[in-house]
Amino acid sequence: MSISLTRYLVEQQRAKGHIPSELRLLLEVVARACKSISQAVNKGALGGVLGSAHSENVQGEVQKKLDIIANEVLIEANEWGGHLAAMASEEMDSIYLVPNRYPQGEYLLLFDPLDGSSNIDVNVSIGTIFSVLRKPEGSLGVSEADFLQPGAAQVAAGYCIYGPQTTLVLTVGDGVAMFTLDREQGSFVLTQEDVQIPADTKEFAINMSNMRHWDTPVKRYIDECLQGKEGVRGKDFNMRWIASMVADVHRILTRGGVFMYPWDKREPNKPGKLRLMYEANPMGWIVEQAGGAATNGHGRILDIMPQQLHERVSVILGSRNEVERVTRYHQESA
Ligand code: AHG
Ligand code: MN
Ligand code: MN
Repeated sequence: MSISLTRYLVEQQRAKGHIPSELRLLLEVVARACKSISQAVNKGALGGVLGSAHSENVQGEVQKKLDIIANEVLIEANEWGGHLAAMASEEMDSIYLVPNRYPQGEYLLLFDPLDGSSNIDVNVSIGTIFSVLRKPEGSLGVSEADFLQPGAAQVAAGYCIYGPQTTLVLTVGDGVAMFTLDREQGSFVLTQEDVQIPADTKEFAINMSNMRHWDTPVKRYIDECLQGKEGVRGKDFNMRWIASMVADVHRILTRGGVFMYPWDKREPNKPGKLRLMYEANPMGWIVEQAGGAATNGHGRILDIMPQQLHERVSVILGSRNEVERVTRYHQESA
Protein backbone atom coordinates (compact mmCIF):
# COMPACT_ATOMS: atom_id res chain seq x y z
CA MET A 1 0.00 0.00 0.00
CA SER A 2 1.36 3.40 -0.90
CA ILE A 3 1.84 6.13 1.71
CA SER A 4 1.11 9.70 0.67
CA LEU A 5 3.00 12.73 1.92
CA THR A 6 -0.15 13.71 3.84
CA ARG A 7 -0.23 10.38 5.65
CA TYR A 8 3.51 10.48 6.36
CA LEU A 9 3.13 13.94 7.90
CA VAL A 10 0.07 12.94 9.94
CA GLU A 11 2.07 10.02 11.32
CA GLN A 12 5.02 12.27 12.10
CA GLN A 13 2.58 14.46 14.02
CA ARG A 14 0.41 11.84 15.70
CA ALA A 15 2.51 8.78 16.34
CA LYS A 16 5.94 10.30 16.63
CA GLY A 17 5.10 13.73 18.03
CA HIS A 18 7.73 15.29 15.78
CA ILE A 19 5.70 18.05 14.24
CA PRO A 20 2.84 20.26 15.38
CA SER A 21 -0.20 20.50 13.09
CA GLU A 22 0.77 24.02 11.99
CA LEU A 23 4.08 22.74 10.64
CA ARG A 24 2.32 19.87 8.94
CA LEU A 25 0.04 22.33 7.16
CA LEU A 26 3.04 24.44 6.17
CA LEU A 27 4.82 21.46 4.62
CA GLU A 28 1.70 20.41 2.74
CA VAL A 29 1.41 23.89 1.29
CA VAL A 30 5.07 23.98 0.26
CA ALA A 31 4.61 20.60 -1.43
CA ARG A 32 1.55 21.91 -3.27
CA ALA A 33 3.55 24.90 -4.49
CA CYS A 34 6.31 22.56 -5.70
CA LYS A 35 3.72 20.55 -7.61
CA SER A 36 2.61 23.70 -9.35
CA ILE A 37 6.22 24.74 -10.12
CA SER A 38 6.81 21.23 -11.49
CA GLN A 39 3.85 21.74 -13.79
CA ALA A 40 5.29 25.01 -15.12
CA VAL A 41 8.74 23.45 -15.55
CA ASN A 42 7.20 20.58 -17.52
CA LYS A 43 5.42 22.87 -19.95
CA GLY A 44 8.67 24.63 -20.82
CA ALA A 45 8.50 26.50 -24.10
CA LEU A 46 4.80 25.55 -24.46
CA GLY A 47 4.02 27.53 -21.31
CA GLY A 48 6.24 30.46 -22.31
CA VAL A 49 8.27 30.02 -19.12
CA LEU A 50 11.78 29.73 -20.57
CA GLY A 51 14.32 32.50 -21.01
CA SER A 52 15.40 35.60 -19.16
CA ALA A 53 13.19 38.01 -17.25
CA HIS A 54 15.74 40.79 -17.97
CA SER A 55 15.88 41.79 -14.31
CA GLU A 56 18.44 41.29 -11.52
CA ASN A 57 18.09 39.96 -7.99
CA VAL A 58 19.75 41.44 -4.89
CA GLN A 59 22.88 39.39 -5.58
CA GLY A 60 23.26 40.95 -9.05
CA GLU A 61 22.31 37.75 -10.89
CA VAL A 62 20.11 38.00 -13.99
CA GLN A 63 16.74 36.45 -13.18
CA LYS A 64 15.11 33.85 -15.39
CA LYS A 65 11.36 33.89 -15.92
CA LEU A 66 11.08 30.69 -13.89
CA ASP A 67 13.02 32.21 -10.95
CA ILE A 68 10.28 34.81 -10.69
CA ILE A 69 7.37 32.46 -11.40
CA ALA A 70 8.56 29.96 -8.77
CA ASN A 71 9.03 32.75 -6.23
CA GLU A 72 5.47 34.01 -6.83
CA VAL A 73 3.98 30.53 -6.63
CA LEU A 74 5.64 29.94 -3.24
CA ILE A 75 4.50 33.29 -1.84
CA GLU A 76 0.92 33.02 -3.07
CA ALA A 77 0.60 29.47 -1.78
CA ASN A 78 1.99 30.27 1.67
CA GLU A 79 0.80 33.75 2.62
CA TRP A 80 -2.85 33.04 3.52
CA GLY A 81 -2.68 29.78 5.50
CA GLY A 82 -2.02 31.33 8.92
CA HIS A 83 1.03 29.18 9.58
CA LEU A 84 3.70 31.74 8.66
CA ALA A 85 4.93 35.04 10.06
CA ALA A 86 7.24 35.86 7.14
CA MET A 87 9.19 34.49 4.21
CA ALA A 88 12.62 35.12 2.69
CA SER A 89 13.88 34.17 -0.75
CA GLU A 90 16.92 34.31 -2.96
CA GLU A 91 14.82 36.40 -5.33
CA MET A 92 13.71 39.07 -2.83
CA ASP A 93 15.99 41.74 -1.37
CA SER A 94 14.33 41.75 2.03
CA ILE A 95 11.90 39.62 3.99
CA TYR A 96 8.25 39.28 2.95
CA LEU A 97 5.81 39.84 5.79
CA VAL A 98 2.50 37.99 5.73
CA PRO A 99 -0.03 40.71 4.78
CA ASN A 100 -2.20 42.09 7.60
CA ARG A 101 -5.38 40.66 6.12
CA TYR A 102 -4.20 37.14 6.96
CA PRO A 103 -3.54 35.60 10.37
CA GLN A 104 0.09 35.44 11.48
CA GLY A 105 1.69 32.12 12.36
CA GLU A 106 4.78 31.10 14.29
CA TYR A 107 7.00 29.94 11.45
CA LEU A 108 9.50 31.52 9.08
CA LEU A 109 9.99 30.04 5.62
CA LEU A 110 13.12 30.54 3.52
CA PHE A 111 13.57 29.34 -0.03
CA ASP A 112 15.63 29.21 -3.16
CA PRO A 113 12.60 29.07 -5.46
CA LEU A 114 14.49 27.81 -8.48
CA ASP A 115 17.91 26.28 -7.98
CA GLY A 116 20.13 25.60 -10.97
CA SER A 117 18.74 28.45 -13.07
CA SER A 118 21.41 28.01 -15.76
CA ASN A 119 19.87 24.59 -16.48
CA ILE A 120 16.30 25.78 -17.12
CA ASP A 121 16.65 26.53 -20.80
CA VAL A 122 18.70 23.42 -21.55
CA ASN A 123 16.18 20.95 -20.07
CA VAL A 124 18.41 19.69 -17.26
CA SER A 125 17.29 18.99 -13.66
CA ILE A 126 16.50 21.98 -11.46
CA GLY A 127 14.78 22.30 -8.09
CA THR A 128 13.36 24.25 -5.16
CA ILE A 129 15.11 24.32 -1.77
CA PHE A 130 13.37 25.32 1.49
CA SER A 131 14.12 25.76 5.17
CA VAL A 132 11.72 26.30 8.06
CA LEU A 133 12.57 28.13 11.28
CA ARG A 134 10.46 29.07 14.27
CA LYS A 135 9.95 32.75 14.93
CA PRO A 136 11.93 33.58 18.11
CA GLU A 137 9.67 33.70 21.14
CA GLY A 138 8.67 37.05 22.55
CA SER A 139 9.54 39.10 19.47
CA LEU A 140 6.76 41.45 18.47
CA GLY A 141 6.27 41.68 14.73
CA VAL A 142 8.94 40.17 12.51
CA SER A 143 12.26 41.55 11.40
CA GLU A 144 15.18 40.26 9.38
CA ALA A 145 17.03 39.63 12.66
CA ASP A 146 14.45 36.94 13.52
CA PHE A 147 15.67 34.94 10.52
CA LEU A 148 19.33 35.02 11.57
CA GLN A 149 19.37 31.65 13.32
CA PRO A 150 21.92 28.87 12.80
CA GLY A 151 20.95 25.91 10.60
CA ALA A 152 20.84 23.73 13.73
CA ALA A 153 17.63 25.58 14.67
CA GLN A 154 15.75 24.43 11.55
CA VAL A 155 12.52 22.52 12.27
CA ALA A 156 12.08 21.24 8.71
CA ALA A 157 14.10 21.35 5.50
CA GLY A 158 13.72 19.92 2.06
CA TYR A 159 13.96 20.25 -1.64
CA CYS A 160 11.98 19.25 -4.67
CA ILE A 161 13.88 18.15 -7.76
CA TYR A 162 12.28 18.63 -11.17
CA GLY A 163 14.04 15.97 -13.21
CA PRO A 164 12.95 12.88 -15.12
CA GLN A 165 10.79 12.43 -12.00
CA THR A 166 9.63 15.13 -9.61
CA THR A 167 10.83 14.08 -6.16
CA LEU A 168 10.31 15.83 -2.84
CA VAL A 169 12.97 15.15 -0.21
CA LEU A 170 12.19 16.08 3.36
CA THR A 171 13.52 16.02 6.91
CA VAL A 172 11.80 17.06 10.11
CA GLY A 173 14.71 15.74 12.16
CA ASP A 174 13.69 12.07 11.94
CA GLY A 175 15.87 10.97 9.02
CA VAL A 176 15.29 11.73 5.37
CA ALA A 177 12.29 10.59 3.32
CA MET A 178 11.72 10.82 -0.44
CA PHE A 179 8.35 11.23 -2.16
CA THR A 180 7.80 10.84 -5.88
CA LEU A 181 5.08 12.87 -7.57
CA ASP A 182 2.38 10.60 -8.98
CA ARG A 183 0.95 12.80 -11.72
CA GLU A 184 -2.14 10.64 -12.19
CA GLN A 185 -3.08 10.87 -8.50
CA GLY A 186 -1.72 14.39 -8.16
CA SER A 187 0.02 13.44 -4.93
CA PHE A 188 3.49 12.83 -3.55
CA VAL A 189 3.99 9.17 -2.65
CA LEU A 190 6.61 7.89 -0.20
CA THR A 191 9.22 6.02 -2.25
CA GLN A 192 12.17 5.88 0.15
CA GLU A 193 12.55 6.20 3.89
CA ASP A 194 15.62 6.40 6.11
CA VAL A 195 17.88 7.50 3.24
CA GLN A 196 21.56 6.80 4.06
CA ILE A 197 24.62 8.26 2.32
CA PRO A 198 27.50 5.75 2.16
CA ALA A 199 30.43 6.99 4.30
CA ASP A 200 32.95 6.35 1.51
CA THR A 201 32.79 7.26 -2.15
CA LYS A 202 34.72 7.34 -5.41
CA GLU A 203 32.84 10.30 -6.86
CA PHE A 204 33.35 14.04 -6.42
CA ALA A 205 31.43 17.08 -7.67
CA ILE A 206 33.18 20.41 -8.12
CA ASN A 207 33.35 22.97 -10.92
CA MET A 208 36.85 22.15 -12.22
CA SER A 209 37.01 25.32 -14.31
CA ASN A 210 37.76 27.20 -11.08
CA MET A 211 40.78 25.05 -10.25
CA ARG A 212 43.33 27.83 -10.68
CA HIS A 213 41.46 29.90 -8.06
CA TRP A 214 41.18 27.18 -5.40
CA ASP A 215 42.79 27.26 -1.99
CA THR A 216 45.60 24.74 -1.19
CA PRO A 217 43.52 22.17 0.77
CA VAL A 218 40.90 21.88 -1.98
CA LYS A 219 43.59 21.57 -4.62
CA ARG A 220 45.36 18.89 -2.56
CA TYR A 221 42.17 16.85 -2.16
CA ILE A 222 41.23 16.97 -5.85
CA ASP A 223 44.83 16.32 -6.97
CA GLU A 224 44.84 13.17 -4.84
CA CYS A 225 41.51 12.04 -6.34
CA LEU A 226 42.86 12.63 -9.85
CA GLN A 227 45.97 10.51 -9.15
CA GLY A 228 43.61 7.53 -8.97
CA LYS A 229 44.82 3.97 -8.25
CA GLU A 230 48.47 4.97 -8.55
CA GLY A 231 48.19 7.80 -5.99
CA VAL A 232 47.83 8.08 -2.21
CA ARG A 233 44.09 7.26 -2.35
CA GLY A 234 44.73 3.96 -4.11
CA LYS A 235 41.48 4.10 -6.10
CA ASP A 236 40.10 5.75 -9.22
CA PHE A 237 37.59 8.56 -8.79
CA ASN A 238 34.78 9.65 -11.09
CA MET A 239 33.50 13.22 -11.46
CA ARG A 240 30.03 14.77 -11.90
CA TRP A 241 28.97 18.43 -12.01
CA ILE A 242 25.37 19.22 -12.90
CA ALA A 243 25.45 22.91 -11.88
CA SER A 244 22.21 22.47 -9.93
CA MET A 245 23.00 21.95 -6.26
CA VAL A 246 19.67 20.16 -5.94
CA ALA A 247 20.61 17.60 -8.59
CA ASP A 248 24.15 17.10 -7.29
CA VAL A 249 22.89 16.63 -3.72
CA HIS A 250 20.17 14.27 -4.92
CA ARG A 251 22.77 12.06 -6.58
CA ILE A 252 24.83 12.07 -3.38
CA LEU A 253 21.79 11.06 -1.29
CA THR A 254 21.15 8.27 -3.77
CA ARG A 255 24.62 6.78 -4.21
CA GLY A 256 27.12 8.81 -2.20
CA GLY A 257 29.75 11.34 -3.22
CA VAL A 258 31.23 14.62 -2.11
CA PHE A 259 30.00 18.03 -3.31
CA MET A 260 32.11 21.16 -3.03
CA TYR A 261 31.58 24.79 -3.84
CA PRO A 262 34.51 26.13 -1.85
CA TRP A 263 35.72 29.66 -1.23
CA ASP A 264 38.11 30.65 -4.02
CA LYS A 265 40.37 33.54 -4.99
CA ARG A 266 38.08 35.00 -7.67
CA GLU A 267 36.27 37.13 -5.13
CA PRO A 268 38.35 36.69 -1.96
CA ASN A 269 36.04 38.82 0.16
CA LYS A 270 33.06 36.56 -0.47
CA PRO A 271 33.01 33.45 1.76
CA GLY A 272 31.76 31.37 -1.19
CA LYS A 273 29.11 31.33 -3.91
CA LEU A 274 26.26 29.43 -2.32
CA ARG A 275 23.90 31.03 0.13
CA LEU A 276 23.92 29.90 3.76
CA MET A 277 20.31 30.30 4.77
CA TYR A 278 18.36 28.80 1.86
CA GLU A 279 20.94 26.57 0.16
CA ALA A 280 23.67 25.35 2.52
CA ASN A 281 21.63 25.08 5.74
CA PRO A 282 18.70 23.02 4.40
CA MET A 283 20.98 20.82 2.27
CA GLY A 284 23.48 20.49 5.14
CA TRP A 285 20.78 19.30 7.52
CA ILE A 286 19.34 16.83 5.01
CA VAL A 287 22.83 15.41 4.39
CA GLU A 288 23.52 15.11 8.13
CA GLN A 289 20.14 13.43 8.67
CA ALA A 290 21.19 10.88 6.04
CA GLY A 291 24.43 10.11 7.89
CA GLY A 292 26.66 12.45 5.87
CA ALA A 293 28.47 15.64 6.90
CA ALA A 294 28.50 19.30 5.84
CA THR A 295 31.25 21.80 6.66
CA ASN A 296 32.69 25.05 5.33
CA GLY A 297 36.19 23.54 5.59
CA HIS A 298 36.59 24.73 9.16
CA GLY A 299 33.47 23.74 11.02
CA ARG A 300 29.93 22.44 10.79
CA ILE A 301 27.77 24.57 8.49
CA LEU A 302 24.76 24.18 10.80
CA ASP A 303 26.65 25.89 13.64
CA ILE A 304 27.36 29.10 11.70
CA MET A 305 25.61 32.12 13.20
CA PRO A 306 24.35 34.09 10.18
CA GLN A 307 25.03 37.82 10.05
CA GLN A 308 22.96 38.54 6.94
CA LEU A 309 19.97 37.06 5.15
CA HIS A 310 21.79 36.58 1.85
CA GLU A 311 25.11 35.53 3.40
CA ARG A 312 27.30 33.22 1.35
CA VAL A 313 29.30 30.25 2.55
CA SER A 314 31.90 27.75 1.42
CA VAL A 315 30.29 24.31 1.11
CA ILE A 316 31.71 20.79 1.41
CA LEU A 317 29.08 18.10 1.92
CA GLY A 318 28.28 14.45 1.35
CA SER A 319 29.92 11.15 2.28
CA ARG A 320 31.18 11.51 5.84
CA ASN A 321 34.75 10.20 5.47
CA GLU A 322 35.47 12.38 2.44
CA VAL A 323 34.04 15.53 4.02
CA GLU A 324 36.13 14.84 7.14
CA ARG A 325 39.22 14.43 4.96
CA VAL A 326 38.73 17.73 3.12
CA THR A 327 38.05 19.46 6.43
CA ARG A 328 41.21 17.91 7.94
CA TYR A 329 43.24 19.22 4.96
CA HIS A 330 41.94 22.72 5.76
CA GLN A 331 42.99 22.35 9.40
CA GLU A 332 46.43 21.04 8.43
CA SER A 333 47.08 23.96 6.09
CA ALA A 334 45.88 26.59 8.60
P1 AHG B 1 20.88 29.37 -8.39
O1 AHG B 1 20.44 28.89 -9.73
O2 AHG B 1 19.82 29.26 -7.34
O3 AHG B 1 21.51 30.74 -8.43
O4 AHG B 1 22.00 28.39 -7.83
C1 AHG B 1 23.00 27.91 -8.68
C2 AHG B 1 24.11 27.37 -7.84
C3 AHG B 1 24.00 25.90 -7.51
O5 AHG B 1 22.78 25.31 -7.73
C4 AHG B 1 25.07 25.25 -8.33
O6 AHG B 1 25.70 24.25 -7.60
C5 AHG B 1 26.03 26.36 -8.66
O7 AHG B 1 25.30 27.56 -8.56
C6 AHG B 1 26.63 26.26 -10.03
O8 AHG B 1 27.55 27.26 -10.20
P2 AHG B 1 28.60 27.32 -11.42
O9 AHG B 1 27.80 27.74 -12.62
O10 AHG B 1 29.59 28.36 -10.97
O11 AHG B 1 29.21 25.96 -11.56
MN1 MN C 1 20.48 27.95 -5.84
MN1 MN D 1 17.85 30.12 -7.32
